[in-house]
Amino acid sequence: MIKTWHLGDSRQSMVLASFDGRLPEVVYWGPALPEGEAHQAIAAASIADVSGGMVDRNAAVSLSPEASQTFPGHCGLSVRDKNGTQLAPDSRFRSEAVSEHGVTLVFADDALGLTLTFNLALDAKSSLFKLRSSLESADEIIVDWLAAPVLPVPAHTGEMIEFSGRWCAEFLTRRIPFAPGARVRDNRTGRTDHAHFPGLIVCSPGTRNTSGEAYAFHYGWSGGHKMVAEELQDGRRHVQFGHASGSLPVGRTFHSAPLYVTYSGSGLNGAATRFQKHARNLVAEGARSPRPVHYNCWEAVYFDHELDELRSIASQAADLGAERFVLDDGWFGRRDDDTTSLGDWVIDRRKYPDGLTPLIEHVKALGMEFGIWFEPEMINEDSDLYRSHPDWVLGPADQIRGRQQLVLDMSRQDVRSYLYEHIASVLKHHDVGYIKWDHNRVLPVVDASQAEGTYALIDRLRADFPQVEIESCASGGGRIDFGILERTQRVWLSDSNDALERQRIQHDAALFLPASVTGSHVGPRKCHTSGRVLDIKLRSWTAAQRHMGFEMDPRELTEQEAATLRMVTGWWKANRDWMMQADILRLDSSDPAIIAEQQLAADGSRFVAFAAQMRPSDQILPYPLQLTGLDPNAVYKINLINQDEAPALSRGAPLLKEHDLEVSGQYLMSHGLILPWRFPETIWVLEGRRL
Ligand code: DGJ
Repeated sequence: MIKTWHLGDSRQSMVLASFDGRLPEVVYWGPALPEGEAHQAIAAASIADVSGGMVDRNAAVSLSPEASQTFPGHCGLSVRDKNGTQLAPDSRFRSEAVSEHGVTLVFADDALGLTLTFNLALDAKSSLFKLRSSLESADEIIVDWLAAPVLPVPAHTGEMIEFSGRWCAEFLTRRIPFAPGARVRDNRTGRTDHAHFPGLIVCSPGTRNTSGEAYAFHYGWSGGHKMVAEELQDGRRHVQFGHASGSLPVGRTFHSAPLYVTYSGSGLNGAATRFQKHARNLVAEGARSPRPVHYNCWEAVYFDHELDELRSIASQAADLGAERFVLDDGWFGRRDDDTTSLGDWVIDRRKYPDGLTPLIEHVKALGMEFGIWFEPEMINEDSDLYRSHPDWVLGPADQIRGRQQLVLDMSRQDVRSYLYEHIASVLKHHDVGYIKWDHNRVLPVVDASQAEGTYALIDRLRADFPQVEIESCASGGGRIDFGILERTQRVWLSDSNDALERQRIQHDAALFLPASVTGSHVGPRKCHTSGRVLDIKLRSWTAAQRHMGFEMDPRELTEQEAATLRMVTGWWKANRDWMMQADILRLDSSDPAIIAEQQLAADGSRFVAFAAQMRPSDQILPYPLQLTGLDPNAVYKINLINQDEAPALSRGAPLLKEHDLEVSGQYLMSHGLILPWRFPETIWVLEGRRL
């Protein structure tokens, strides 16, 4: 007997089948199937042959491949009884509940007292599937691995793009071939981490940003994930995501985080724009609109908080166009450097004798919102909190410190209450609209209840202070995922304010993140994390590609630099309403020295394209820049808004250097735009309007 289920929309279909009551398997995932397609036939047609050297029936790549079915690879569930004896569940169909966009399927092994539930739904707004597994047990058990619903990927794909990175170089991508065996990523840092963004894109060798097939995955969890991308010895391939190994405490109920997946037939951009849209939808309710221009004082003053100096910086920031002033690390306890005071969330009266109100009033009088930094989950040994509660620390006493700090055990109610009271007190007694929530070290032990405890604390604060936005920061981009974005409204993408590095990081992060949640700041002339000196134009336009802000000491700006920054900020404000809702389309630049993207308005009526010359090109003449996502039959008016930046060495007369161009979408996408020659470490900005 075959039972089938179908999920999908006009872009993609997923067909699941259960044979003889066994666990369901995805028998089709790809382009949308025609209305009325016979799903039973597709299920029946999915049965593969059996040949020499094989068992007599192929174990299914089910939503949770089972050892009891002789599955020849990584199983979807690895579970032991309390004494450590391995269990091999053999689950059978129990029930189903079908809703408009989803289905809940329940399977059980009654003899072992184990029930597996799969929640599968299509988010109609973003066209992402949201898939989740849960396990319930009659007895206490040890779960070593619970995969979110496991998905097969087709043989014709063959490659995967996975993510690594480091501090100041988040979202590094690596494109590697599928090969027999398993590619396993196990992030045991206890946080999402710079080095382990929980994403994967399975694609064909020819897939580019603008064309080809892609199967994209993101695990929405902040506690560290494990991924398995495996090619079995029989040739079948599958992908699994779940919590990092060893992170689930002994218990009776277990859940995976949601796994978000989508199929795109229109290149990496087809998948990227759906993730971007979903992230925009997640933060839509809590995020201030329009998105305010930030000023963050970290790289201006670090721990040296001096009221008059901060007031003067705030005034200059407002004059440059800032609309939100964020007071970073250093305002509490006796925090003169990073060795002390985490946990003591009381205002440092040495630095602020009359509290924070004089600074806040100054900021408000300038028309800016006030934001403040916390690192709630952390504690220094040199703190009153540690002296009174050394037992609140997570992990062993002799653990290696990270940035000289320890971590609070967020699974404890008393720890969460303490943090709630102290953060709430600052919010209640001051006019605060924003929290920058930091997390500057990896955990000493991997434990899912740590991330769950943090989620609970943020949820409580958001419920009681819904007007306070939260930014997720973890030494830059160490905690970026859809789990944290369900409860925060912005991410600090990287501690690197180096515009060239930022171009690369932003470009790759756009495979999942929209502009509206991605913080990007104009840093100091000489970058504090790279030592590189970059021009204000490149720095300003790079920040203007995302949620814009400034982070330098404004006193270092020359008049000319301030004028450029003011101009670009003014441009950003004039365009942010549509840009923050736009799709970021990564362009396939023929020149590897150029990183280019196009931000296309939701109604297709306008766009802006940025082409950053990262280094000198190998060839002298700039290659035409091909655009994407346009109506081939419509005419667009193009203008190069910073055409006056062409240097003297650009001696010719390409049209865009002096004139606007009116031309079809077909020409723009097929031939592309000829731009003037320019120096490395500079950027062209093009505006387009549909006529
Ligand atoms: C790390 C963050 O990423 C920085 O932006 C800054 O907030 C520091 N922590 C403060 O300690």
